[in-house]
Formats: sequence, C-alpha cells, structure tokens
Amino acid sequence: MKKPKTTFFCQNCGHQSAKWLGRCPSCGEWNQCVEEEERVTPIEGSLDAWFNEEPLPIDTITADEKDRLRTGIAEIDRVLGGGIVGGSATLIGGDPGIGKSTLLLQVMQNLAEGGLVALYVSGEESARQIKLRGGRIGASSNNLMILVEVSLENILRHIELMHPGIVVIDSIQTVYSSAITSAPGSISQIKEASGRLILTAKKTGIPLFLIGHVTKEGSIAGPRVLEHMVDTVLYFEGDSGHAFRIIRNVKNRYGPTNEIGVFEMRERGLIEISNPSALFLSERPKGAAGSVVVPSMEGTRPLLVEIQSLVSENTFGIPRRTTIGVDHNRVSLLAAVMEKVCGLHLGNHDIFINVAGGVKLDEPAVDLGIISSLMSSFLNRSIDAGTVVCGEVGLTGEVRTVGRMDERIKEAARMGFSRCILPGASSNGAGTGTQMTRVAIGTIKDLSEHLFV
Ligand code: TYD
Ligand code: MG
Repeated sequence: MKKPKTTFFCQNCGHQSAKWLGRCPSCGEWNQCVEEEERVTPIEGSLDAWFNEEPLPIDTITADEKDRLRTGIAEIDRVLGGGIVGGSATLIGGDPGIGKSTLLLQVMQNLAEGGLVALYVSGEESARQIKLRGGRIGASSNNLMILVEVSLENILRHIELMHPGIVVIDSIQTVYSSAITSAPGSISQIKEASGRLILTAKKTGIPLFLIGHVTKEGSIAGPRVLEHMVDTVLYFEGDSGHAFRIIRNVKNRYGPTNEIGVFEMRERGLIEISNPSALFLSERPKGAAGSVVVPSMEGTRPLLVEIQSLVSENTFGIPRRTTIGVDHNRVSLLAAVMEKVCGLHLGNHDIFINVAGGVKLDEPAVDLGIISSLMSSFLNRSIDAGTVVCGEVGLTGEVRTVGRMDERIKEAARMGFSRCILPGASSNGAGTGTQMTRVAIGTIKDLSEHLFV
C-alpha cells in the first residue's frame, strides 16, 4: 500500500514544511511541528459544484441592513454591528470557563423563542449537562435543538436535513472529519472542519457560530488561518476573579471593529450591562494620588475608565515598567517625554500602571491620561475627582487633538464630571450644551497647573 503523503504543520500558526523543524520559521514558536496527513481527496463534489453561480449586476442583488437577525441582547447586537448577518461565520474565543457556552446558549434561546429553529451542536458536554445549564438560564424553547456530535459528516448531514435558522458549534476543536486521519484538534482537522462548515453557511445562508479555545498565550488555538476564514472574530475576556465579562470584536466584515459589550456573570447566566462607565468607576478611590479618569472610545461607544499609577523610587537595579491594560512601550515613551519636557526624573523610579476593571486601552487619546496619572503619583498630589483628561501627546510634549471629542465630553458630563482637560484644537465646539468646563492646553508643560487645583 502506498504510504499517505504527510506534511509537518506548526500547531501554532499552520505553517507547512516538508520536514520536521524545531522552531517554526513563520511564528518563531518552538516544538510545535507535528506530522499530519495531507488531504488528498477533494471536498465531495469539488468546489465548482458548490457554487454554481452566474455573475450578476450589483444593483439587482437584494440585501438589506434590516435583514440582520436581532438576538434581543442589545450588547451582542451592537458588537456584531447591528445583528447577525445571514450566511456569516463568527468565531468566538475565550478562556475555558469564561462563559462562551452560556452566552451562546442564551443567544440561541432568545432566537428560538422568536420562532427561529436554532441548532446547538456540542462536542464537549452531554445533552444532560447542557440541559442543566439551560435550566439555570431559562432555556426551554422547543425550537432550540441540541445535538451532541463530533463527526463533521454527521453534523453537515443534520444541517442539511433540518435546515435550521442558525447553527452553533461548541467547540470547533472537537469536530472530527473521517476524511483525514489526524487527531481531533490538530491543524488539518480544524481547517477541514471549519472550511466545510463555513462553506455550508455561505451556500445555505445559515449564520454559523464557532466556539474556539484559546491557547496559553491568548490567541485562538489552531491555525491563524481560522481567523482569516471567518467573517467576524469575537473575544470573550474577563478574569475568573471578577464577574465582569467583556466581549470584544477584533474583526468584522459587516461592521465596526473594537466594539465591546459588557456583561456580568450571575446565578442565572450573563446579564448585560448597559451603563459600563458607571460600573468601571464604581470603586474609584476619590482623592487618591495616581488615579485619573479618561473618556476612551471603545468602538463607537465612549467609555469612562480609570487609570491608576504607582511611581516609586528604585534605589537599586534597573527600574521596572509594568503595565496592565495599556501599551508598555507607549508608557516608556511618555515617561521619557515627561522627563525631558517637564523635568520630572522618572528614570530612577519603578512605574506600575493599571487600567481598572480589566479594560484594555489602545488608542493614543489616553496618552494625556497616562501622563496625568504618572505625574499625580510621582508628585503625590491627587487630581480633582470631577476632572477627566483626554488627548494624544507627541514627542515634544505637544498635546494633539483626538477624534470624537464631542461624544467623549458628553459621556463624561452624563457621568457627573464637570471639568475636562483637552487639546487646544478640540476645545471649540466639542461638548456644547453640557455644563462641562473645558480647559484647553497646548503642551504638557501646562498640565500640572490645571491638573491639581
Ligand atoms: P461556560 O459557559 O461553561 O464556559 P465556557 O464554555 O467558556 O468554558 O461557563 C461556565 C462558568 O460560568 C462556570 O464557572 C459557572 C458559571 N456560570 C454562572 O456563574 N452562572 C450561570 O448561570 C451559568 C450557566 C454558569
Ligand atoms: Mg463550553
């Protein structure tokens, strides 16, 4: 018998090579190379039979924003850009136990309640276990179908027979195709299973949700190509110590990215939090040095979050720069600018920065917030509790304008803040109609005289 053709796949990024390699040349990971059989038989009926379509003038194609499927959970709809698009494939990743299965069961229950036939395929739990979870969150619709199955061929057959309105696969790593001999969860299996499921979704117009595990490093286990194959990638974040869960959109072909939805895990499942600013500010220490509030844009929504710093003198060794929730390099850069422009000698100090509530901030508009917080901790002077700061800071210490100032100021005013320190160029017009006192500054040299009053 002819030996099947095998290839070595990097289990981290999917890189292929003819021979075993200790270190993947593509992603640099060590010891991830695994020999797997290469797929030789094409997908049944080959691709050209799946899509046998004619070219159409674009104005004759009917598609409407209103066709989106509303889940009835506003936070999810917003994260998806206004609802679920027919035939779309969405990948949702997150740590084990974070609540992925719970969330999707809730979404499916809502849709099933609305009359849609929802198929929930689980390869991880028994029907009884799913029923027990369903009991807690009130999932009892008879349109909600549970299928415990790991065979790809069987799953596809059921989808064809049932023609459900929506399908969830929990999780993609458990799906196994008999067309390939590699173990479930290997790169070839994941590629094969997701490829054929996504194709089915596109062909039939049934929206598909794939649940994916994440690796220790935090990316979705399996090839990076999985993220390229799907239309939308959502990450479910939050630590098990807190009840807050943030669902973040990192890729979306049908809407804005970086949109977040906030939930809280309760006894009866996930409850949406429609006013997250209040939540993130609820435990803020008033009058403590190092704490400042910034209005940050998360997707299309302004969100008020607290940045905390601790600057302490380091008398030996190399000073540390530890950051949680903001970019490490950005903090080093801003500390250097402060040293040069304001003459604050942070060089021999340890710097610790934390964004409260587990939020990750990655827009330059929080630069001024980081500097204010560092300055406050370094000088040991507290910032007025009614003040927010917002602006990008350049290398010469100039404070630059940022986008969507109006929305940021309005959110801050809504949350009871009365003063905003902002870039000079943004000050006119933004936030009119609010009671906000706007203090425009052009350089961080002027920051301290306005920050501590
Ligand atoms: P689960 O959805 O199984 O996580 P994942 O699919 O991401 O692995 O969530 C399990 C956790 O959620 C578990 O620690 C129990 C908790 N939980 C609640 O607190 N309340 C609830 O109503 C439910 C269903 C789960
Ligand atoms: Mg699960």
